[in-house]
Amino acid sequence: MKKIITLLLTVVLAASTLFVTGCGEKSDAENKTFKVGIIQLVEHPSLDTIRESLIAGLEAEGFKEGENLEIDYQNGQNDMGTMKNIAQKFVGDEVDVIVAIATPAAQAALSETTDIPIVFAAITDPISAELVASNDEPGGNVTGTSDYIAVDKIMGLAEEITPDFRTIGALYNTGEANSVSVIEDLKAYAEEKGLKVVTSTVTNTSEVQQAAQKLADKCDIVFSPIDNTIASSMQVATDVFNKSKTPFYVSADSMVKDGGLATYGIDYTVLGNETGKMIAEVLNGADTATMAVKTMSDLQVYVNQTTADALGLEIPQDIIDGGANIL
Ligand code: TRP
Repeated sequence: MKKIITLLLTVVLAASTLFVTGCGEKSDAENKTFKVGIIQLVEHPSLDTIRESLIAGLEAEGFKEGENLEIDYQNGQNDMGTMKNIAQKFVGDEVDVIVAIATPAAQAALSETTDIPIVFAAITDPISAELVASNDEPGGNVTGTSDYIAVDKIMGLAEEITPDFRTIGALYNTGEANSVSVIEDLKAYAEEKGLKVVTSTVTNTSEVQQAAQKLADKCDIVFSPIDNTIASSMQVATDVFNKSKTPFYVSADSMVKDGGLATYGIDYTVLGNETGKMIAEVLNGADTATMAVKTMSDLQVYVNQTTADALGLEIPQDIIDGGANIL
C-alpha cells in the first residue's frame, strides 16, 4: 500500500512539475519583450510622421513599448558611416527586427546584416536601391513599404494649375537612389511630351540655395522628387522660387506643407501604420523573404494656398471640388 501511495505521489508530482514547467514556458513566451531597432536617415517632418505612425501601427497589433516591446530609436544624422555604426550596434544587441526609415538607412542596415529581419519604411524604389530583387518576392531578410509615386500624375496636376510649361527644372540629390529613379521617369515623360528638363543637383543641404537659384531663372516650373535633402531645406528652396515666381512642384505632403506649391502623393500616416503592421507580422514569426513590398494605392492632391497666393495663382475649382487637401 505504502509503495502504491509513493508511486501515486511520484506520478502526481511529476505531472504537476510538467504542468508547471509547461505553463512557465508558455507565459515566458507571452512575456517576451521584443527588441526593435529603428534607424531614421534624418529628422524631417515626413520621416518623423512615418516613425510615429509605425509605432502606433505596432501598438494597434498588440506590441506596446514598455510592455512587450523595447524600441531603440536612432537618428542617422544624414550620414552613411553613422547609420552603419547604428546597424552594427543593433546586430550586436541581437534586436528582433531592424526598422529602416528612408532609402539610405535601409541600404546601411542591409550592408551590416543579411540575417536579422529588416522592415523598411517609405522606400521610393526598393529595386533600384538594390534592397530587393522583386517587390512581389523580396527573397531575403528585407521587406517593407514603398512610397512610389507616378511622376506623370504630378505633371498632370502641374498642367492643370500652370498650363503650357515648356521647361521643367529638376532639383534633387544625386546621392539618393530614391530621387534618381523618379528623375529618370520625369525625363521619359518630358521626352514623350516634347518638353525640356534642366537638372540642378546637390549632394547636401548647404548646396540647395545655389542649385535652386540656377533653376529659378531659366525654368517655367521646378520639380523635386521625394528627396530627403530637399525635404530638409524647403524653406531655402521656396524662398528662392517664390521670389522668382516659379511654381515649385514637389512629391510629398510635408513638402507642400513646408512651402511647395502642390503634389499628388500618398498619405504617410497610412504608410506608417502599414509598416507597423508588417513589423508586427515579422515579430509574430512571418518570413520577410515571402512578404511582398507594400505600395500605397490611395493618392491625393495637396496644395499650399499661401504659396499659390504668393505666386498669384488661382487653383482651378475642379481641383478643389475634387477633394484636394489645401494646406
Ligand atoms: N521616399 C524617401 C526615400 O526613399 C523617404 C521619404 C519619405 C521622403 N517621405 C519623404 C523624402 C518626404 C522626402 C520627403 O528615401
